[in-house]
Amino acid sequence: MDFKRYLVTAALPYANGPVHIGHLAGCYLPADIYVRYLRAQKRDVKFVCGSDEHGVPITIRAMKEGITPQDVVDKYNTIIKDSFAGMGISFDIYSRTSNKIHSETSQAFFTKLYNDGVFEEKESEQYYDESKGIFLADRYIVGTCPVCGNDNAYGDQCEKCGSTLSPEQLINPRSALSSAVPVKRKTKHWYFPLDKYEGWLKEWIVDGKKDQWKPNVYGQCKSWIDSGLQPRAMTRDSNWGVPVPLPDAQGKVLYVWFDAPIGYISATKELTNQWADYWCKEDTKLVHFIGKDNIVFHCIIFPAMLKAHGSFVLPESVPANEFLNIEGEKVSTSRNWAVWVDEYIKDFPDQQDVLRYVLCANAPETKDNDFTWKDFQDRTNNELVSIFGNFVNRAFVLMHKLCNGRMPKLHAEVMDDADRALIHEIESAKFKVQACLENYKFRDGLYEVIDLARKGNKYMQDKQPWIVAKSLEANPENQQLIDNCLHLCLQLAANLAILVNPFLPYTATKMCYMMKVVDRMLEWENAGKTDLLKTNYPLRAPELLFRKIEDSEVAAQVEKLRANLVKSTATKMENTTAPIVSETKAEAIPEVQVKKAEITYDDFAKIDLRVGTILKAEKVEKADKLLKLELDMGTEIRTVVSGIAMHFKPEDIVGKQVTVVANLAPRKMRGIESNGMILMAQNADGRLIFVSPMETADNGSEVK
Ligand code: 2FM
Ligand code: ZN
Repeated sequence: MDFKRYLVTAALPYANGPVHIGHLAGCYLPADIYVRYLRAQKRDVKFVCGSDEHGVPITIRAMKEGITPQDVVDKYNTIIKDSFAGMGISFDIYSRTSNKIHSETSQAFFTKLYNDGVFEEKESEQYYDESKGIFLADRYIVGTCPVCGNDNAYGDQCEKCGSTLSPEQLINPRSALSSAVPVKRKTKHWYFPLDKYEGWLKEWIVDGKKDQWKPNVYGQCKSWIDSGLQPRAMTRDSNWGVPVPLPDAQGKVLYVWFDAPIGYISATKELTNQWADYWCKEDTKLVHFIGKDNIVFHCIIFPAMLKAHGSFVLPESVPANEFLNIEGEKVSTSRNWAVWVDEYIKDFPDQQDVLRYVLCANAPETKDNDFTWKDFQDRTNNELVSIFGNFVNRAFVLMHKLCNGRMPKLHAEVMDDADRALIHEIESAKFKVQACLENYKFRDGLYEVIDLARKGNKYMQDKQPWIVAKSLEANPENQQLIDNCLHLCLQLAANLAILVNPFLPYTATKMCYMMKVVDRMLEWENAGKTDLLKTNYPLRAPELLFRKIEDSEVAAQVEKLRANLVKSTATKMENTTAPIVSETKAEAIPEVQVKKAEITYDDFAKIDLRVGTILKAEKVEKADKLLKLELDMGTEIRTVVSGIAMHFKPEDIVGKQVTVVANLAPRKMRGIESNGMILMAQNADGRLIFVSPMETADNGSEVK
């Protein structure tokens, strides 16, 4: 089908905490790359998202923070929105499901299905927490997963094995709010008869999408459909959500997975009066970008709702990603094991593209992947800085040096095979990147962009214009060879700007500035051309596109992760990735709390820690607690007075290796000048233990 317009959605994040880089990698970054590519193609596209402000995740966060659900969503909606803007995620609208237009739109949707007789109204017995006076649906109830035995499965989903569950399926169910064993109580709800849509879903997905949808998405849908579909309640007993628009539905709201996807429609309505073109015309391509935990909702439940309604288009594709782990461990928001986007933006100002690069180059497109800070550093330094940045910088510097700062001419008469081969690479790069982006293969697309830069570097290295320049006095006509080389390198750089623009938009903008071209050059139709920069046009001096990431920055981030994990008083959000009970676990981490204020890596780096060996130890007169130590520090013998006399006999510690704070200002104790301090660990019972190297180290060696 020839699509006339595109509607791209990115999952509405729960406004119950900030977003982390796993969210970005899973859904928002690929969606943004895709949309920026479509815009560069001048296709008619709208990109919608917003905060998901209803449902149990919000009310649970409110209970934990002792504030109202409205306070929770107001607070996190702003943080999330700012994080996306800060990372260049270019939504056309970022809306909220607490908006009036959303409650009207979702109520109208419900009413249409109700009037058409779609729902089944059923009274049934449901779990109820008597101590809290609340029905326990979805994430209010936890228990053992009947499929994999995970003790912390939710009433709607097991996060460990991915099974979709109902509270009745949980073994040993307990209230997530009070841990009470629930009782059963009668309540009435409206059910969507998914079973009646089974045949249609089989035809639409199992038969129709096999070769079109990603294997992870198709596979999950097929196994869901194959295991048989059941009617699903679309209402809940709660006072937080969109009220059910029926007279006999006091205290009932729409199920969050009924109203949230309708949020895509209401956000589009808020964005444009032409919203119906995007939602109701068959030649719209609707694409949902989501994380893998949202697959069934976007591929089965929401499409069945759309089908039942009858007025809307169905998703053409649902390119879901898998999860991104951090430093080898699953993200856990409750244990605070995550890299938060708002903090990244503060710690790395103006480095959006670096993170965009690493998250895309390592995106969990086909399987769960791991983010490590070391990999962040390696990819930045070895790929962005050394390949892409280096190529562009050399092309500009050499053009200024060897071609008077102006775009040199291409002398066709002296072109050789290498020049022609490079032109061919520039032309074909466009089609390679395009094929990847059209098929949601963003990692591969980015690889092709870097590969073109790599080819540029190789070409320049082979041509060595700086060597040719040395022959100019003898052979002035060689200037033509230099011109050709730099002409093609700069045309390649212009192509890099176009191709990299969907992935790294800040970099593309910087490059346009250097080339003195307007943003219109970045339009996709210009890719592949080798006459983008006009001959004799003066270009600006290069700006460094990327900077190296230092070891100290990596160390600081790893340390921050670990320190936050220890603190773990869950100031960040509880989201879909971790059961509530694991937060209890985190809070129960014993007294290894950080008792001192946080310091920066630079603060830490001021301390000079060294290994030393105790050569001599003796009691200090009239001081019960002090020992005078003489330490071999490799290049000197130091005197340190230490308050360990009550714990060790002097003769027992001679020969021990210790860790010394070597740059502590000298201090006099009982008339003796102490030059440093030795480090000791102290057990809860007060016992002191030397902090020594595991193996003998050279005296004076640095501890870091
Ligand atoms: O998993 C989540 O974070 C959900 N809030 C996603 C909702 S997507 C859509 F349906 F709104
Ligand atoms: Zn399970």
